Amino acid sequence: MLFPKFLAMAMLATASANNEPAPYQISVDPKLIKEAAIKARLYRPSLPLEDGTSETWREGPPTENMTALASYWANDYDWLERSERPDAIPLLLLHGWPSTYTEWNDILKPLTAPQDENAPAFHVVAPDSPGFGFSPAPTHTGFGPRQAGAAWANLMSTLGYDKYGIVSTDFGWWVALFMVDDDKDHIVGHFTDFHFAQPTPADIERYNNNQTDQLETEYIASVLAFQGGFNAYMVIQGQGPLKLGQALNDSPVGYAGWIWHLCHFGSDGYPYTLKQVVTRTLLLWIPGAYGNLRAYLEWLRPESSQFPKSDVPTGVSQWGGINGPFEELVNFPLAPPRWIERTSNLTFLVRRDFGGHFPAEQYPDLYVKDVQDFFGQLDA
Ligand SMILES: *[C@@H]1O[C@H](CO)[C@@H](O)[C@H](O)[C@H]1NC(C)=O
Ligand SMILES: *[C@@H]1O[C@H](CO)[C@@H](O)[C@H](O)[C@H]1NC(C)=O
Ligand SMILES: *[C@@H]1O[C@H](CO)[C@@H](O)[C@H](O)[C@H]1NC(C)=O
Repeated sequence: MLFPKFLAMAMLATASANNEPAPYQISVDPKLIKEAAIKARLYRPSLPLEDGTSETWREGPPTENMTALASYWANDYDWLERSERPDAIPLLLLHGWPSTYTEWNDILKPLTAPQDENAPAFHVVAPDSPGFGFSPAPTHTGFGPRQAGAAWANLMSTLGYDKYGIVSTDFGWWVALFMVDDDKDHIVGHFTDFHFAQPTPADIERYNNNQTDQLETEYIASVLAFQGGFNAYMVIQGQGPLKLGQALNDSPVGYAGWIWHLCHFGSDGYPYTLKQVVTRTLLLWIPGAYGNLRAYLEWLRPESSQFPKSDVPTGVSQWGGINGPFEELVNFPLAPPRWIERTSNLTFLVRRDFGGHFPAEQYPDLYVKDVQDFFGQLDA
């Protein structure tokens, strides 16, 4: 499989009048940028507990960090519009929450124009998921991962890409796991940096009877720790996205804290700058928090995780959280490979104990190498 070189585009995937994807000019109402800064100036911090608990990040971002963020947003943050829009491309990049296509910023260039002429190059298509960044939110219930996958398959076909690969993370992985069946005749391979594997009741029983092997034991312990102490955000986003969206939409700084907490505990100790936190938040606040929070309601429906088994070759890079703030979550990203094989045709695996949940942002060089290696071996 040869990929045409040196073309990339990030694009909005909503249909224009004639149902053709069209180049998209980013435009944001300056009133919204101003409004967010005014709200940041009025931000009212929560009182921390006096025994130091609030500084651990366990319950949320510490007050001092939130105060610094609000002050930065109100006084120093500069919204710089990206003007460079590279050209069109067949590698579909699918991001998750709380992200937009900007999660791929640092890998776009090396994927489309690698310095090594022998490395595979890609035409990259990096859409914002509907309700995220510059893609309008769905206006009806029922737009889950399978529907998103159908939309992206249609996009790739409309762009004229008969064969294409997928790179996915987080919610994008859900989408990809449906696409590798629903559009399998067009997909040459699926690479993901996030392959979750829900322990089955039988796994849990073996775990309780001390019959799991070390990989399984460590993984299940992390999954249980996540579900027992860190997934409150998922539950409320999945069950009450409207009420939560109403609150967070009214407080950009509050929304930033909501997002920052997840990024902090999931990112293997990566030191986010205030600018990164604010930009990430702004891109999800501009379209309205509800539209992207609500994706959880659709993605967490039971049928949304009933993945078909697929033959499409699958490459996985796993990035543990060894430098992260909470020891009990270190192995959460490290699903046992045999469990991954329950749904996917695992043909390529790289396992690292570091890197966390946003490796394309934090380790772009390693990330690109993995993607090139995976798709490169499919060439042979
Ligand atoms: C939170 O604020 C403290 C004090 O300013 C600082 O040392 C620390 O690095 C901040 N934490 C993060 C994750 O930015
Ligand atoms: C499993 O191992 C733990 C710790 O060694 C022990 O306390 C527990 O009784 C064991 N459970 C079973 C079902 O063997
Ligand atoms: C998995 O993918 C490889 C590479 O394309 C292929 O040779 C193999 O037959 C596939 N395995 C299954 C079980 O479909």
